[in-house]
Amino acid sequence: MLFLSERDVERILTMKEVIEAIEEGFKSLAKGKVALPLRTRIRSLEHDGDILSMPCLVEDFNLYTNKIVSVYPKNVDLGLQTIHAVIVAVDAVKGVPIGVIEAGYLTALRTGGISGVATKYLSREDSKTLAVIGCGYQARTQVMAIKEVRKIGKVYAYDIIFEKAVKFAEEMKSRLNIEVEVVNSAREAVERADIIVTATTSKTPVVKREWIKLGTHINAIGAYTPDMREIDTETIIDAKVVVDLKEAALSEAGDIITPIKEGRYSEDRIYAELGEIVSGVKLGRTSSEEITVFKSVGLALQDNAATHALLKKYLNQF
Ligand SMILES: NC(=O)c1ccc[n+]([C@@H]2O[C@H](COP(=O)([O-])OP(=O)(O)OC[C@H]3O[C@@H](n4cnc5c(N)ncnc54)[C@H](O)[C@@H]3O)[C@@H](O)[C@H]2O)c1
Repeated sequence: MLFLSERDVERILTMKEVIEAIEEGFKSLAKGKVALPLRTRIRSLEHDGDILSMPCLVEDFNLYTNKIVSVYPKNVDLGLQTIHAVIVAVDAVKGVPIGVIEAGYLTALRTGGISGVATKYLSREDSKTLAVIGCGYQARTQVMAIKEVRKIGKVYAYDIIFEKAVKFAEEMKSRLNIEVEVVNSAREAVERADIIVTATTSKTPVVKREWIKLGTHINAIGAYTPDMREIDTETIIDAKVVVDLKEAALSEAGDIITPIKEGRYSEDRIYAELGEIVSGVKLGRTSSEEITVFKSVGLALQDNAATHALLKKYLNQF
């Protein structure tokens, strides 16, 4: 059986390949050819961590995957990554296990990848500036993905811990050859941005409607539980909101659940799921003035698609 390490994934898989595979995966989902149960979350109250089990079968890829992923926010204080993950891949034709993949980096790639797909369909084609709020591990692959689909000339970076934004800026300049300015508030970044990424662990909004220009696109990827939140209610009300999957957003995304609980938003106002847009059932952006929000909590489908791209490339080498 195959074992692919974090390093193998980094060496083999590109962001472009992941974006393409995720788009294909969402087309399959729209055709009803994906089995995607809601993930199971087990919480360690003693250690303030979540461990999730994320199964998915994509018929078009002949691939079953199950990812075990842990999210331990306090790891930051220990100098460890917040997220660790491993994927088991099974050939869905014969049910034979293919391999095990260390998947921390793959998770970041696929989280960036879905933002890449959403940005391609929802942001203005002339978008040039990007605000990154929360400069942790995921933020890096968000920039990689958005740069893949739009000509970004400048990134404005903000983190509640200033040093993290500085480190992020240095890394992005040297790895992606992109200009990054560290700013002192989320507002400064948001006001100058055509595209915004929120990738924090915040429980209160980090982006406010009054700061956002018309025509901006937002990828909100940080909040994945009902009590987490990055986007304020006013933005959700004013924007064209697209989610990865309605069922998942309504059970996990505080950014959507809180405005509904406040009685100021309702499920039927969510414009679309990403699958409806990539398969052409609904249009993406339709004017240069609209504010669009893509809310993703992270689906096992993204892991499956990225694993498919990885295995296809790796196995074809031999
Ligand atoms: N949607 C998805 O598919 C998906 C996938 C992976 C991770 N996530 C989530 O994304 C979030 C970020 O993950 P990560 O691995 O990058 O974590 P991380 O801990 O490496 O980075 C989070 C960063 O946000 C900063 N931050 C926290 N609160 C902030 C605030 N109020 N304003 C500005 N910055 C703030 C922290 O200082 C840190 O630098 C987590 O909540 C994680 O669970 C979502």
